[in-house]
Amino acid sequence: MLDDVVAALAAARAVVVLTGAGVSAESGVPTFRDAQRGLWADYDPEQLATPAGFARDPALVTRWYDERRVQCADVRPNPGHDALARLERYYAERGRAFVLLTQNVDRLHQRAGSRQVVELHGTLWVWRCIVCGHEREETGGPFGEYPPRCGCGGLRRPGVVWFGELLPEAALARAWGALAACDVFLSLGTSAVVEPAASFVDLARAASARTVEINIEETPITDRVDFALRGKTGELLPRIVDALCAR
Ligand code: OAD
Repeated sequence: MLDDVVAALAAARAVVVLTGAGVSAESGVPTFRDAQRGLWADYDPEQLATPAGFARDPALVTRWYDERRVQCADVRPNPGHDALARLERYYAERGRAFVLLTQNVDRLHQRAGSRQVVELHGTLWVWRCIVCGHEREETGGPFGEYPPRCGCGGLRRPGVVWFGELLPEAALARAWGALAACDVFLSLGTSAVVEPAASFVDLARAASARTVEINIEETPITDRVDFALRGKTGELLPRIVDALCAR
């Protein structure tokens, strides 16, 4: 089946990749839905990842996201991230289209060298004031004071998308445009339960794309893809890209 995926990638003129927390798991960033070690194991997502949760307890929410930001500064991209950056270069050198849609907020793809990255859920690295809207990139140590405040006195929040919030319009438009024109779609390390990313596979299928999933377990889209590879992205992606480049 790996050979079939490599053959589809070799023939592709326009590729769309969707990534989720599983791609960063091998870097040591916890996923969301792992029952024991996952980010939602100790908290209800309603408490941490909603505008209502932030309004109720901004100190708790901002501390939690700030800890994740600092944690992400300490980890490195893994072989899965590296392979996706190589895949992008493979298509760029051949003048073919490639877009990486990510639900991850850690920016590990960019650190691995990926350029065509669409951040569907924003990023942990940019924080904005909820009053004046001022945004600032935060690359230093922990804030130390929670919730952090803007010069105008307003509370600052992480630049991530919370449940119940709209995805950034430009990111969504780019995703839909790329999906409508793709001939291969890869869904990597995502539980594929959160919309709109959950229905991307159907948009790709509607465009007659070959569809591929790589995950360590089954997901709701496993039955709807042409090729479902069971395994770690950090192990399978380097093998796929090596085989592609060796053709
Ligand atoms: P999840 O935690 O829901 O799913 C991670 C997926 O990665 C699971 O299906 C795992 O089986 C798989 N996985 C774990 N390790 C892997 C590995 N090494 N190789 C391949 N697969 C692996 O994370 P997401 O799908 O990213 O949204 O979640 C999507 C969104 O829901 C997140 O962006 C977040 C979350 O709640 C918000 O916070 C709004």
